[in-house]
Amino acid sequence: MSKENPVKVKFYNGENIPLELHKVRVVQKLNLVPVERRLAALYEGGFNTFRLSTKDVFLDMLTDSGTNAMSDQQIAAMMQADDAYAGSQSFFRLQKAVEEVLKKKYFLPVHQGRAAENILSCAYIKKKGGLIPMNYHFTTALAHITQYGGRIVELLYGEAYNLSSSHPFKGNMDIEKLEQVIRETGVENIPFIRMEASTNLIGGQPFSIQNLREVRRVADKYGIRVVLDASLLGENAYLILQREPGFEHATMAEVIALMTGLCDIVYFSARKLSSSRGGGICTNDETIYRELEALVPLFEGFLTYGGISVREIEAMAVGLYETLDETMICQSPQYIEYLVKALSSQGVPMVTPPGVLGAHVDAMTLCGHIPQTQYPAGALAAAFYLVSGVRGMERGSISNQRDEEGNETYADMELLRLAVPRRVFTLSQIKYVEDRMVWLHRHRHLIGGLKFVYEPPVLRFFMGGLEPVSDWPSQLIAQFKKDFGDSL
Ligand code: F0G
Repeated sequence: MSKENPVKVKFYNGENIPLELHKVRVVQKLNLVPVERRLAALYEGGFNTFRLSTKDVFLDMLTDSGTNAMSDQQIAAMMQADDAYAGSQSFFRLQKAVEEVLKKKYFLPVHQGRAAENILSCAYIKKKGGLIPMNYHFTTALAHITQYGGRIVELLYGEAYNLSSSHPFKGNMDIEKLEQVIRETGVENIPFIRMEASTNLIGGQPFSIQNLREVRRVADKYGIRVVLDASLLGENAYLILQREPGFEHATMAEVIALMTGLCDIVYFSARKLSSSRGGGICTNDETIYRELEALVPLFEGFLTYGGISVREIEAMAVGLYETLDETMICQSPQYIEYLVKALSSQGVPMVTPPGVLGAHVDAMTLCGHIPQTQYPAGALAAAFYLVSGVRGMERGSISNQRDEEGNETYADMELLRLAVPRRVFTLSQIKYVEDRMVWLHRHRHLIGGLKFVYEPPVLRFFMGGLEPVSDWPSQLIAQFKKDFGDSL
């Protein structure tokens, strides 16, 4: 599927491996603690990888959020930040970057992506409720919409739920269903349509420009606004260059401008989009700006810092420009493609085509013997940490929230996400991940289920506590020792 490598280097031996166009100048030492310590850490952390301490983690593949590598240019910019409560020059530099990269004139800074979701939900859902059609939910977006009394409807095509697919744009919205939902619900009950770039929870799958154009056409027909979650915008644009007919020779800047130009409101987590901290909401519509403006000082801070330090604002501005660099943006998707292909070819069920953010293991298939009531993706995340020291993230039913009556809702997919933050890991580390996952797949029958012992009412996956339903971790360790001896 992958077109020309943006790094434009061919290997004489025909090998197809990612080649980095950067060098490492600052490093952080890692620990690989013994398997017994990893077992103890799992019990201390309630079998929830969010609750592990990084001193017990070898490769941190939990997320790319705030963990992408920073560039020397970003660090340099942080040194010249302008500390001021109001009117900081750092803010104006960021505003200019938003205007030049995202092509939006009005910008509201917020402390991270979910703060933007809070503001949008507060402004447009709180008083009247309403239904938000979206390609697919993200955990924090859903939590904010429902907290303010709104509901969501997910409108992906059926193919998006096929985990081993070759469809290049599984994040596309079903246009016929969208029109049907609008007609049935009534325009007045739809505050906005939400499109998520590189749809996170289905395996970082992009949508196409063609699809976004169709969403825009329907939105215009009914007079509804389109909101873009641009947290993974750069990678979605990169995959458009790779996969969408007609965009073979387009640039990142052109595709990003097209995407944001088709949406009325663009919001993002800068923790992901521009490798730093913070977030923002931007628009070209002064009315929208006025509708949202007052909520920033209420929830975040003054309008020229929005709860973010000026140093982070500088890094965010530089990071936005860097998003236009295809040789930088390609780095994570290429590693992911490498890992997905390597694992798939050895029988490990992976979400295909390879998406962005991370490689996603299909835990429902891999742990087919574990019922969904015992959280196969959570169990796989715990088991993989145990045998490798690598921390992934459960993206399945534990990450789902209960319905209004308090009933458990089971996720469409049970995924273990192995995030590949940009420019952080080496190829030999990725090969280690491959090796341990292949081993675990061979011994998958030893993995058992989990049950909740502590369940917080909101976003339970963050701090929830679980325990194994049987003593399966000891059996897994016994097999590990048999095969690996005293190797870590
Ligand atoms: N939207 C998307 C698509 C995201 O992936 C995230 C965060 C957010 C919104 C919220 O942004 O964390 O800055 O408040 N995703 C992280 C992840 C947490 O690990 O996938 P935030």
